[in-house]
Formats: sequence, C-alpha cells, structure tokens
Amino acid sequence: MSAAFPALRTPFQPPAPVPPEGPIGPLAFLYGLWTNPIGTWSARNFELPVIESDGLLGRLVVVNDPVAIRHVFVDNVANYRKDALQLRILRPGLGNGLLTADGEDWRAQRRALAPLFTPRATAGFLAAMSGAAQWLLERWEPLREGRRIDIAPEMSRVTLDVLERTIFPQGLGRDPQEFARAATQYFDSIGRFHPFDIVGAPAWLPRIGRKTSAGAMSFFGGAVEEIVAARRRWLQDNPQPADAGGSADLLTLLLDARDPQTGLGLGEDEIRANILTFIGAGHETTANALTWSLYLLSQDPDWRAEVEREIDTVLGDGPIGAAELETLVMTRATIDEALRLYPPAPALSREAIGADEFAGCKIRAGSTIIVSPWVLHRHRRLWEAPAVFDPRRFLPGRRETIDRFAYMPFGAGPRICIGMGFAVQEAMVLLASILRRYRFDLAPGHAVTPVQRVTLRPQGGMPMILRRR
Ligand code: HEM
Repeated sequence: MSAAFPALRTPFQPPAPVPPEGPIGPLAFLYGLWTNPIGTWSARNFELPVIESDGLLGRLVVVNDPVAIRHVFVDNVANYRKDALQLRILRPGLGNGLLTADGEDWRAQRRALAPLFTPRATAGFLAAMSGAAQWLLERWEPLREGRRIDIAPEMSRVTLDVLERTIFPQGLGRDPQEFARAATQYFDSIGRFHPFDIVGAPAWLPRIGRKTSAGAMSFFGGAVEEIVAARRRWLQDNPQPADAGGSADLLTLLLDARDPQTGLGLGEDEIRANILTFIGAGHETTANALTWSLYLLSQDPDWRAEVEREIDTVLGDGPIGAAELETLVMTRATIDEALRLYPPAPALSREAIGADEFAGCKIRAGSTIIVSPWVLHRHRRLWEAPAVFDPRRFLPGRRETIDRFAYMPFGAGPRICIGMGFAVQEAMVLLASILRRYRFDLAPGHAVTPVQRVTLRPQGGMPMILRRR
C-alpha cells in the first residue's frame, strides 16, 4: 500500500537542540532542567540502549532498549511505581487523580474510569469535537488573507473548548474566556522542574521564578468545584437512563463511575482531581500535537499537498464521521510523525521498588528509570533517518514494522494514556477540519525552537500566515 505514495523528495530536519557530546556537570544539568530539559540529553543517549549514572537525582537508568522498556512497563510492572520527583511536581496542581495516584488507589480509579474512554464512549464525543472545530473556523472566518496568527494559543484554546464541551456540555456558568485564561495560568504554574523540587526542598519553601497566580489558581479550582456540585444537584433532579455510555458527558460518567470490583464510586476529591487531570493531561498535549503537525506540514509542501488531496477526496462539506476518519491515513501519519518528533510528554519516569535486572544491568531498589520518548523516538539504533520528517513511515504497510516499545507518545502497559483514543480522534477531527479550509505557512523570519515545560512546546509560540484554500 505504501508503494502507492511518492517517495520523499526533500528531506526536512526539524529543529532540535544539538546534544552535548559528553555528560554535563551538576550545575549545568540543574540549569538545563529548569530552562529546557530536552537540551540536557547527551549524544550517547541517542546511541546506547541503556545508560546508568549517579548524580543529583540519585541512581538514574536511562533506557532506550525496547525489550528492557517492555520489561519495566509490562512484564515486571509491579516492581515499578511513579517516582517521588514526578509526584512532587504534579500533585500540588492535579491532586490525587488517575495520573498521580498509585497502588490500589490507582487500580480502583483506573477500573472505575475505564468506561469513560471506551471506543464507544469516545465515538460519542465526535459531535462535540466537530462542534469545537466549527467554532474555531468561524472565529477565523473574518480574518484577512495573509494575516499572521500565533497557532499555539489557538490550538490551546480549541482543545480546551473540546474538553469543556465533553466534560461540561451544560456550560461553565461563568465567562468562558476567563475560565480559559485561569486554566492556562493554572497549568502553566505547575509541572515545571524547579531546582528545589529536584533537591527535595520542603514544599513550604517558595519556588522563586515559578510563575504562579494565586487568583487564577483559586478561581479555577473553585470553578471546577462549583460546576461539579451544580451538576450533582441537576442529576439528582433529572436521573439519566442507565445506558448512557455512548452519549453522556464526561462529568456525568465521572459522577456515575463505579469500581466494578467493589461497586464503590469516586469521592469528591477524586472527582475534582480527575477533572483537573483530564484538563491538565488532555489540553496542552493535544494542542501541541496539532501545533507541531501544522508546522511540519508547512515545511514539506509536497507532503502537505498530498494530505490536502486526501482530505478533499474523503471528506464532504458536512460533519466528519467515524468511518471517514479511518480512511484519512495520510492525515493520521502526519499526526503520528509529529508525535514522534515532538512527543508532548517527552519523559516518563519510574522508581524501582525492589532490585531487578534487565539488558544485562543490575537495578538497585530506589533507582529511577527514565524512558524519554524525545530520545527514544530519535534513537539511531531504532529509526531510519531519525532526525528527518518522514510521515510515510507511519503509512499502513510500514507502520506495522515499528517496534511497539520504540514508539511511545502515549506510554505503554497498564498506565498507558487513558485518553489516547480520545486524543487521536480529537487531533484528527481538528487537523482535517483546519486543512479542509486553510493552509498555514510559517511566519517569515521566525526561528522555531522546541522547549520542554510540562509538555513540549514551541518557544515563543508558532506564528503562522493564514491562507484560505
Ligand atoms: C496527544 C495527546 C496526549 C498525549 C501525548 C498523552 C500522553 C500521555 C502519556 C505518555 C501518559 C503516560 C504517563 C506515564 O506513563 O507516566 C499519559 C497518561 C494519562 N493521560 Fe494522556 N496524553 C494525551 C492526551 C490525553 C487526554 C485527551 C486525556 C484525557 C481527556 C489524557 C489523560 C491521561 C490520564 C488520566 C493519564 C494517566 C493514566 C494512568 O496513569 O492510568 N491524556 N498520557
């Protein structure tokens, strides 16, 4: 099937920090973690399967061997838990939701939340996603041809809109602009590596330099609490049919969620934490996937023309259906390649509970295992022309040859992203809807630099020139 597509004509190497040749000293490492962690990976990481070291973060084992990754994430997963540093960074903002829970608490939450993200439930969100896409296109309608717009906040706003429409379709009960601003400030203020977190300084020590806004934090947290309470009252007065799985909103599903083993529902704190988690884990990640996809397309006009042709052939003028999404293989390959080159979650980490052994290495209890999709997806042993934008590698017929544990934008094993199907469907609907009407070129003179905050973003946004098709 892939033979039907023309060969790559102009290899394009998207921008990435040049890896330092040797290991960097502790101060440079701390500074790098604070400013742009992806710049701290030395060249050896992109060449060797496993690297062990002792440093500020204790014993670190960086793993880029698919068999060893499978061992940690699947085969011996019971020996690996989320590490303390990751939890120190995420818990203050996200509470004890699915992303940050551990042990039996995590298992019970995962069992209760699984029905919210089944393929059937996800398909039920298609209309809300198309509605958000429509809203975006209408907002761009009055803009003049050739207008420069920053695509990064645009994508952030539309993915937040998708979450609002799927979690709270009955509205926020407050100004959506203010809610969006507060959400952005809330998630900007958490999730950044701070030197104090790394050295384990107590939580009461102020993290100087971390952007915080107490007003936004309390507005956003309080808004979520009020919306949940209002929805609970409404549901008590208007009971839902038992089989609402394919049509109910996420908040209703969350309030109804039960652990099938114990029959228990989620507590108030868990409901609030999971709403914050869905917004926190599902908003910037998908927005970045879209921003990078539009950027990469702008740098390869031949491939972009192919994708546009595919969309024009498959899609009519009406709303996009699930069957149509299945046939958009080039659009999908573009998103997959954007997730390879710029994985929104660029580092995953775990702590070994007990001693273990993999890839010929003896692992001590307490060691931190790092699997960085940023490194893994650009590893010289695992990919052909790893630095080149070549979405053809994800076309049917070729993508099956990619090792499951060499490509992990959504993680792997029991803690794989619960929102993966949701995110892929959302990215497909939004990208196809945008490309059906618009073509974006990078603003002249703008230098693109990827920077790791919580997610992998373009530094200073992504100014692009809007053109109608
Ligand atoms: C392109 C978009 C997305 C990417 C790249 C992404 C990536 C990831 C990754 C890598 C993990 C695993 C973290 C680990 O193993 O330490 C994860 C977990 C998670 N994601 Fe996503 N995600 C995306 C979208 C979403 C969406 C849309 C939602 C919800 C609406 C979501 C909710 C979650 C949750 C709740 C977890 C924790 C799962 C658990 O620990 O059981 N994500 N995500």
